[in-house]
Amino acid sequence: MSESWIAKAPSNIALIKYMGKTNSKVNLPTNGSLSLTLGHLLTTVKISELQGSEDQWSALTGEGIQAVELSEKGKRRFLDHFSFLKKEFGIEGTYLIESGNNFPSDCGLASSASSFAALTLASYELAKSKASADYMLSELANLSRKGSGSSCRSLFSPWCQWREDSVEAIEALPNNLLHSVVVVHNGRKKVSSSEAHLRVLTSAVFEGRVERAEKRLSDLKQSLRTKNWKESFEICWAEFWDMHGLFETSAPPFGYMTPQSLQVLNQVREQWEEFNDGPIVTMDAGANVHLIYRADQLELAKDLNQKFSQEYSTYNSF
Ligand code: PMV
Repeated sequence: MSESWIAKAPSNIALIKYMGKTNSKVNLPTNGSLSLTLGHLLTTVKISELQGSEDQWSALTGEGIQAVELSEKGKRRFLDHFSFLKKEFGIEGTYLIESGNNFPSDCGLASSASSFAALTLASYELAKSKASADYMLSELANLSRKGSGSSCRSLFSPWCQWREDSVEAIEALPNNLLHSVVVVHNGRKKVSSSEAHLRVLTSAVFEGRVERAEKRLSDLKQSLRTKNWKESFEICWAEFWDMHGLFETSAPPFGYMTPQSLQVLNQVREQWEEFNDGPIVTMDAGANVHLIYRADQLELAKDLNQKFSQEYSTYNSF
């Protein structure tokens, strides 16, 4: 039997968003971002030796693994990143790359962050088995970044900050938070995130965006550290609306919100209005709504989940 190398990596959700690049070739962001790593949403990548002259990709199968579906373009992008890593690590030979998630690939959750992070880590395992290789986690994160920007944050847990080419774990922020995503739409995006990064630069309100995001990043770390949950909610709420506002004011405009997204957002807002407490809310470049609860809000998380799951699929860490 041929040898194989396996690695797993988690997804992550940004509370301060990476949107807009200063360099599209190597994915350098216009502003710093802060994310929470989602340890319950994992991609596994397995690399095996292959006869032949070209690397190939196929869906990984196995217990607890749900096969990923990749478009031709998606396969190409994944294999191109593997070629880049082979060069970087001095790996020779031809390989089969298999990948799969522990969550359904059609559930509307972006898996590119976890996939590229897992591919980078599995390639590093392969490199170490062939020759001595000694990379720091931050160096591996920067390699992953070149395949998919947001994937660099998946190598640090539970909180990661990324600014330019500096990716690091942020200490002293709350641990054991609960995460839930309400999947209101699971189709393919009409505008890819790569296209969104380019298009937001055309928005008149992109002016000032870097300053707004940087201020929120600093304010959010402070409010999380001082356990000011309401202020953390308000900062994150303003931040995802800022990003979605950039989308809608780009030339030409585009958007991901659906009436169902708004319905979920309104219910969460009502929860806050009534009880002066609730989950932190955020949205990615998509229609689905991510909710983050403190560990002591488990009952509330279960109650809201019960409501949302009557109409939509939800994926929870609790
Ligand atoms: O890594 P990309 O190019 O798919 O960019 C993703 C950007 C957002 O998910 C919209 C925000 C973020 O910071 O993750």
